[in-house]
Order: sequence, then structure tokens, then C-alpha cells
Amino acid sequence: MTDFSRRDLARGAALTALSYSRILGANDRVRMGYIGLGNRGAQVHDAFLEFGDAETVAICDLRDDYLDLATKKSRATPKRYADYRALIGDNNIDAVMIATPDHWHAIMMIDACNAGKDVYVEKPLSLTVFEGRKMVEAAERTKRVVQVGTQRRSSKMIAEAVDYARSGELGQVTVARCYDIQNEWPNGIGNLPDENPPTDEMWDRWLGPAPKIPYNRNRAFYKFRWFYNYSGGQLTNFGVHLVDTLRRCLQLESPRKVTAIGGHWVIKDNREIPDTLEVMWEYDGPTLITFTQINGNAAPGNLQGAEMELRGTKGTMYIHENRWEVVPERFTDKLKPANTPLDRTLGRAYSSTKKTATTTIGGKGSAYADIEHARNFLDCVKSRAKCNADILTGHISTSATLIGNIAHKTETMLKWDAKAERFTNNQAANRLLHYPYRAPYKLG
Ligand SMILES: NC(=O)c1ccc[n+]([C@@H]2O[C@H](COP(=O)([O-])OP(=O)(O)OC[C@H]3O[C@@H](n4cnc5c(N)ncnc54)[C@H](O)[C@@H]3O)[C@@H](O)[C@H]2O)c1
Repeated sequence: MTDFSRRDLARGAALTALSYSRILGANDRVRMGYIGLGNRGAQVHDAFLEFGDAETVAICDLRDDYLDLATKKSRATPKRYADYRALIGDNNIDAVMIATPDHWHAIMMIDACNAGKDVYVEKPLSLTVFEGRKMVEAAERTKRVVQVGTQRRSSKMIAEAVDYARSGELGQVTVARCYDIQNEWPNGIGNLPDENPPTDEMWDRWLGPAPKIPYNRNRAFYKFRWFYNYSGGQLTNFGVHLVDTLRRCLQLESPRKVTAIGGHWVIKDNREIPDTLEVMWEYDGPTLITFTQINGNAAPGNLQGAEMELRGTKGTMYIHENRWEVVPERFTDKLKPANTPLDRTLGRAYSSTKKTATTTIGGKGSAYADIEHARNFLDCVKSRAKCNADILTGHISTSATLIGNIAHKTETMLKWDAKAERFTNNQAANRLLHYPYRAPYKLG
């Protein structure tokens, strides 16, 4: 299909579908279309299937086995589409779920908005900062309800941790850290050779706007997250959940500076992303947020083994996948004059002999609130309220991680003008805020 006819289809669909957009009441069923039913799409589909008011009307994927499985799970037989554009043009659909690889999110989401569909789109929101901004604009222009797949935003346990972090009990938080640690040594995802794709058409559709290159099983299904043309690596894949939660705890918007170092140093595979990476953002606060990726060693990132920590002058909050806890600082003596030699009596929650400190405050639950996140989307589709992980929130958090990758690639400390969404001290970095799409792909 030519570029013109492709856009024509999206625009035509927008005109008809917007006029068909239904006003849904509390008891109505939301007719859902699913695009991408692989690893994550299947999980999100399962979450929606928990609710009788979510109807699986249509499904789209490049793999028949995934479509067969989704059909089997659905209450009624959904319509199958090979081409996502036909699915979003279907007037029997109210909302679309997108769980394709990251390089497809922007095109599909904007086309869906133009066709009058509300959208649940997986995180990270986009592959580039430019795409994310265009997605925000599309949602606003078409007045669509959008949920981004950062499901921690719908977790009761995380909400409690956020309330505590905002209460002031931690004192001034100057450093907040998050971690993605696992030992993938020695072979990681391996070194598979290029080969013939299952079909040329399938591979062409999978690549979409990304450069045309030979098929490789390491680049395609699931493993795309180790390659920059389709993903921002673990920093955007996993890091976006954590950076999003930390900035929510600390009520921070966008960073003013970012830098990153690391590389592909230890794992012998054909990944492009680093296996060792440290990213640092400076936020107004002032607060330093860091993301640590270690793939050559699995020891916990902190003494409590949590995936996030917030270090305040009065205590440290640790947030795990299933609980949060606070370890207060221990003030064992009054502040002594500054010239007191080797004053070691202040604020010792930990010492060399006491490795863990007593937890006094905390809560249990799950960060993986897939079902609650789906419920929130269905409710918002009906009420037209803003979702827990609304599009702008998703864009701000995704952008922080994307600019971390740009700092790493340019080997610099970048100053970020969040309003203009540009770097103020590096033109080469600004050129990495987007990339040229392969023809005929364009943002609708
Ligand atoms: N929220 C979370 O916790 C979470 C967890 C995992 C993945 N994700 C996100 O979900 C997305 C998908 O990741 P995944 O692990 O499921 O990958 P995956 O490779 O398992 O699934 C992606 C699916 O998209 C399909 N697809 C690709 N191009 C398509 C096209 N043009 N038309 C129709 N279908 C197409 C593929 O056939 C595949 O089945 C990613 O953006 C990822 O970051 C989110």
C-alpha cells in the first residue's frame, strides 16, 4: 500500500469512526481490539478478560499461534486481522490495546486516535522523544482516553508508598536509586546468525518504520528489547517503570541534566544495548535519580535487596515488587561542632557490624497491578476521566529514560530544556531525538 493510501485509510477511518464513537454508560461493554498478542499482549488481554464489560471483538498479530491462543481465551470468537489498519478502521471497536515492539507504538497509537479509538498502549510510550510528543498531541486533538502500560500506577501498594514518601517523614530526599540487576553471563541471548524470515511480508510488517535489515531471531519476537532500532534497551524497558515511580514519590517532573556511562562489556552475545550501565539524572528538588543496570552479577543493589530506594535525611524508603519499608536514620548523638575530629556518631542506620536495620514502617501488596490497570482504563473509557497512567505522564517518564540513552550514546552530560524538549548544550544529541522512518511510514 502506498503512503498516500495508507494515510487515506487512517484519515477516512478517523472521519467515519469519530462519528460512530459511542458514548458508553456504566453498564455498557467496551468493545476491544488487540494489536500485538505476544508476551505482554497476552498478559494484558488476560487482565481485560477478568471483566465482563470488556469484550474481545478483534485481534491482530503477525503470528497465527498467538492469534489462536487469544481466540481460545476469548468469550466469543474475535475477528482476526492481519493488518492493524483494518482493525482500527473497524466501527465495531471502541478501544484498542497496543502491545507491539516499541518502534510501532507511535504510528499505531496515532492512527488509532485518528480513527476515534481510545487506546491502552504499552510502555515505554515511544522509541523517540519526538514520537512521544506527537502521541500526546494526537490524544489531545482527538480527545481520546489513553492508558500507558506502567501498571505500577494502579498498584495500591505503590500508592501507599507514594503517600508516605510525600508525607515529609523521610526528610529531604537527595538521592533515589533504581536497579535492573541479573546475571546473564556468559552468553546472554546468544549469537544467532541472520536467516530467512518466516515470510518476507511478515518481516517487513514487523520492521515497519525501522531500517530494512536481514531477519534474525535475536532481533524479532521478545528479544527486540536488546536492539536500539526497536527499543531503548533495559533502561526504557524496565527503567521506565521505576523512574516513573520515583518521580511520582518525589513529585518531580522532568530532569534538568542527564549523563550515563557503560557498555557491552561482559556478555558474549549480539545485543546492541549495554550489559553494564549507570544513568544519572539531576532533577529540581534538587534530587539525583540513578538507574543501575548490571547484567554480569546478581548481587542486590542495596542492603534490603529492593528495586528502588529513596534516601532522605531522616530515613530510607525501600520499594520492592511486593512490599515497601522505611528504615529511619539513627541519630545517636547531638550534632557536634564541625571541627570535632572524626565524628562518627551521626545518622548511622547501618554500620559495619549491623548490616540490616529494623523496619518500622511499611506495607505489602504487588507492584504488578495489571488487573487494576485494565479496570481503570475501562472505567475511564466510560467516564472520559484521565487514566492513572495518562499519556502525558507516560511521555514525561519515557522521555527521561530516552534522554539517558542519548547521554550514553553521545558520552556527555546533557542539559535538558523540558519545555522545548531539546538539549541546550549539544546539537548532536538533539539529532537523536528522532530518526528517519523507512518509507512509506509516517506519523498520521
Ligand atoms: N507493562 C509491562 O510490564 C510490560 C512487560 C513486557 C513488555 N511490555 C511492553 O510490551 C510491548 C511488547 O513486548 P513483548 O514482550 O510482548 O514482545 P513480543 O515480541 O512478545 O510481542 C510483540 C507482538 O507484536 C506483534 N507485532 C509486531 N509487529 C506487528 C505489526 N506490524 N502488526 C501486528 N502485530 C505486530 C508480534 O507478532 C508479537 O507477537 C513492548 O513495548 C514492551 O516494552 C510491557
